[in-house]
Amino acid sequence: MSRKRVAVFISGRGSNMAALIEAAKDKSYPAEIVLVVSNRPDAGGLLVARAAGIATEAVDHTNFGKDRAGFEHAVQATLERHRIDLVCLAGFMRLLTADFVKKWQWRILNIHPALLPAFKGLDTHKRALEAGAKRHGATVHFVVPEMDSGPIIAQGAVAVHPGDSEEALAARVLKTEHRIYPLALKLVAESRVRVVDGRCLIDGVPVPDTESLVADPT
Ligand code: GRF
Repeated sequence: MSRKRVAVFISGRGSNMAALIEAAKDKSYPAEIVLVVSNRPDAGGLLVARAAGIATEAVDHTNFGKDRAGFEHAVQATLERHRIDLVCLAGFMRLLTADFVKKWQWRILNIHPALLPAFKGLDTHKRALEAGAKRHGATVHFVVPEMDSGPIIAQGAVAVHPGDSEEALAARVLKTEHRIYPLALKLVAESRVRVVDGRCLIDGVPVPDTESLVADPT
C-alpha cells in the first residue's frame, strides 16, 4: 500500500511536527510528511522542517485581513499542489472554517493538550491545575467545525503531581503528545479508523481507554 502524503500545519516551535517527521523516517510507517504549512512565516518549526528536507510553505494569514476564505483558498491550493491525503494540525493557532473542515472530513487531525472533552481551548495546563485535576493528558481527534471537538482517535493520560508547576505538567503532557500523535496518524493512514455515530472505531472496536493505550506514570 502506498504511503499517505501528509501536510503538518504549525504556528510555532513544531515539536509535535518533529515527532511526526521522526516517526515517518521509518519506511514501514504508513505515512510520509511531505509538507509543512505555517500561517506564521517566523515559526521556528519551519526551520526544523527545512533541515529535515521537507517542503515548507508559509501562508501568512495577516496578508488576508479578515478574509478567512481567501487564506484557506491559498492553503487549499498548496495542499493540492503537493497532492496531500491527510492534514495534521500541530500547534496551528488559526480556526478553520466549516467549509474547509468539511472538505477534509475525517482526513484532518488535531492534537490538543488535555483529555477532551475536558479543558477545550487555551491554557489547559493552568486550568487543569486550578481545577485540582488528578489526571491530565492529551488527545488526538478528527477536526470538526466546533473547536477542540470531533471524534477521539487516541488519548494519553499523565498523573498530576502535588505541587506541579504549569511548566512541569506541560512538559509531562508534551512527552505523551509526541507518542500519541504518531500512533494516531499511523492508525488513520492505515485506514483502521472509522467514524460511526460521531465516535471512532479502531479495527471495528471503540478506542481503548487512556490507561491501556499509553499510560505514563512519570
Ligand atoms: C501542543 O501542546 C499542542 O497540543 C497544542 O499546541 C502545542 C504545540 O506545540 N495544540 P508544538 O509546536 O508541537 O511544540
